[in-house]
Amino acid sequence: MGLLSIFNKEIAMDLGTANSIVIYNDQVVIDEPSIVAVDRTTGEIKAVGRVALEMDGKTGNPELRTGNTNIETIRPLKGGVIADYEMAQHLIRKLIGMTNISRSFMPPSLRMVICIPSGITNVEQRAVREAAEQAGAKEIRMIHEPMAAAIGIGIDVLAPCGHMIVDIGGGTAEIAVISLGGISCNNSIRVAGDQFNDDIVNFMRQQHNMVIGVRTAEKVKLAVGSAITELAEEPEDFPCLGRDMLTGLPKEITVNYKEISHALDKSVARIETAVLETLSQTPPELAADIYQNGIYLAGGGALLRGLDERIASKTKLKVHIADDPLRAVARGTGIALKNFTRYAFLIK
Ligand SMILES: Nc1ncnc2c1ncn2[C@@H]1O[C@H](COP(=O)(O)OP(=O)(O)O)[C@@H](O)[C@H]1O
Ligand SMILES: [Mg+2]
Repeated sequence: MGLLSIFNKEIAMDLGTANSIVIYNDQVVIDEPSIVAVDRTTGEIKAVGRVALEMDGKTGNPELRTGNTNIETIRPLKGGVIADYEMAQHLIRKLIGMTNISRSFMPPSLRMVICIPSGITNVEQRAVREAAEQAGAKEIRMIHEPMAAAIGIGIDVLAPCGHMIVDIGGGTAEIAVISLGGISCNNSIRVAGDQFNDDIVNFMRQQHNMVIGVRTAEKVKLAVGSAITELAEEPEDFPCLGRDMLTGLPKEITVNYKEISHALDKSVARIETAVLETLSQTPPELAADIYQNGIYLAGGGALLRGLDERIASKTKLKVHIADDPLRAVARGTGIALKNFTRYAFLIK
């Protein structure tokens, strides 16, 4: 480590609607759900990240209620916008705090690149910036999610060549065509991982008279989620636990991927439509590039079984899934940090 690096600290943060990742010294040092648990009576922040997630949906739990009667879990970036400013700022500050870099013997000059959903407004950007400043950041740049995803995938975003990125996160699916260091067309819809979970909750209620929570729906999605009804590699059926709507008693129902593919069908179709719309708005020269390069999928939603196949058959284009799609955006944000002055598209 050179002398400079003692005084100059740099971190990259992917502030996702579902997960936030921090890269420091080229390493992922934090990978936590974007969730804050707060005591509504005292205003005290009880936990962020995984520990807060554990409390999510269980805040009625008597164990957690002893002594702190009013814990609420909040996802401040729900839906791809900053739904709760104050909590978003707590989240950002705690994430920076968790890296321990501000504890060194003298306050370093902290440089940061933060990746934000492309739907957030200028006012929301300012809130993000303020939180980073309060946590000690001196030089701050922001980058839009599809741009960071493209860089993380390894695309030369400065080249005069069009690439289409479909980043499916928790709150939003962002579709963008990138060329010459800019986003030439984009589309953001609020249909992504969270919507898939809601679809599964509704499906279990309608088809099986069973009430389940979103965290159980998430487990179902990971175990047997699918975008198509015929998978080459079929996942094992999943025993889903919940409450019977008629008797009120806990029960177990085994679900298979075929039924879940029906549950998710409408939402997947909405993503397909958004991809087709974006393609139809793409300037012809860039469309020609995309024809050759295909479409790149990133974000956790890229891991939904059969999604690549389905988008490929709808668009008649090749579809590639990013390596480690959950971290593609963070990787790209880390690379942007290294090109802090070179990448003119970073937002000041
Ligand atoms: N194997 C998987 N199959 C389907 N969805 C997944 C899988 N793994 C993660 N996800 C979903 O990906 C979403 C999180 O993706 P991420 O890119 O981290 O989102 P964000 O950028 O919004 O924080 C969650 O909704 C999660 O359920
Ligand atoms: Mg993301």
